[in-house]
Amino acid sequence: MSNHKITFTYLSQEDLLASGCFDIHMAIEVAEKTMLDYEQHRILFPEKIVQIFDQASQDRINCLPATLLNEEICGVKWVSCFPRNPKSHQVQNLSATFLLSEIERGFPVAVLEGTLASNMRVAAMGAIAAKHLSRQNSEVIGFIGAGEQAKMHLLSMKVVRPGLKECRVAAKTVAEEQQFIGELSPLFPDLKFIGAETHGRIAMENADILVTATSAQAPLLKADWMKPGAFYSHIGGWEDEYEVAQQCDKIVCDDWATVTHRTQTLSRMYAEGLISSNDIHADLHELVSGQKSGRESDSERTYFNAVGLAYIDVAIGLSMYQRAISAGNGLKLDLQQCMIFEHEDIMQQVRL
Ligand SMILES: NC(=O)c1ccc[n+]([C@@H]2O[C@H](COP(=O)([O-])OP(=O)(O)OC[C@H]3O[C@@H](n4cnc5c(N)ncnc54)[C@H](O)[C@@H]3O)[C@@H](O)[C@H]2O)c1
Repeated sequence: MSNHKITFTYLSQEDLLASGCFDIHMAIEVAEKTMLDYEQHRILFPEKIVQIFDQASQDRINCLPATLLNEEICGVKWVSCFPRNPKSHQVQNLSATFLLSEIERGFPVAVLEGTLASNMRVAAMGAIAAKHLSRQNSEVIGFIGAGEQAKMHLLSMKVVRPGLKECRVAAKTVAEEQQFIGELSPLFPDLKFIGAETHGRIAMENADILVTATSAQAPLLKADWMKPGAFYSHIGGWEDEYEVAQQCDKIVCDDWATVTHRTQTLSRMYAEGLISSNDIHADLHELVSGQKSGRESDSERTYFNAVGLAYIDVAIGLSMYQRAISAGNGLKLDLQQCMIFEHEDIMQQVRL
């Protein structure tokens, strides 16, 4: 009898939700722990592979591998970004699938829906940055962008800043703002929601926490709208005037080295010689480990730029898989029953 059977667990988004994986606290804790592991050189994090299918729209699929040496798991996030999807096909922009393998024998252990983990990771990183860089007494949060990332960010920001009282939102259309408010207001009866009727200024001016999460490539956030003491979390590509970063007292990235060769606002400023490594206060893991300071006064303006860290995705995906297994959810699938030449009828299957 062959013992060369390989099985793995398949987990849909519904399996993950039924297993209690939509847990923002869990995502924040895992992200913090994994950043410390990164600092201890316990993470392998190679460069991502990008395949762009249309230069104008930037339709692309990215392959992002990472290994968690402590957990002995190697994973990959396979993620599509099709910015035209919402308008052209009335479907989401981004969709992700994760593959996790153990590194004792190198076999796969799980394939899971990854959009949930990926979006939770972005929001968790924003929230960890807010924990260190926003004022504790922040009351007003403003958004430009009302899509998937913006919604997830409100959930995570409210976890770390429960005193938030007002949420303002500006999107490309009033309908999107209303959808954002309609979906999220039942969760937060203590929050006053304001639709900004597409006016960024109304959403952002005098807010304590500012979030841009758009598919735009334009300087939507104006420096004048960011008051002293405010914290800004930048998620998309080019979304803010250069003066926003230039006026900030501290700029923190999830990974500055990666930002330098991307296309976000800070990347553009770097390419144009307007900003250098000396202007970057820290990478986020340095705030988490206490190597560098977070906010030091009520008047500082602070800027956080997220470009995306696949090892955090893999770590959150692993926690979700473990939760789902404990809950008895998921579909156990066979990759193979035995090795190729061990199949009894293999010689009848071969085509020469
Ligand atoms: N930094 C990261 O780690 C990370 C991870 C995932 C996604 N992203 C990026 O985050 C961005 C948002 O992603 P999403 O999934 O929420 O997209 P989405 O399509 O769900 O939402 C995009 C939002 O942008 C708004 N928008 C577009 N143009 C605008 C304009 N000119 N003015 C005001 N609002 C405008 C739209 O109204 C919409 O609400 C994308 O650029 C995506 O690539 C970043």
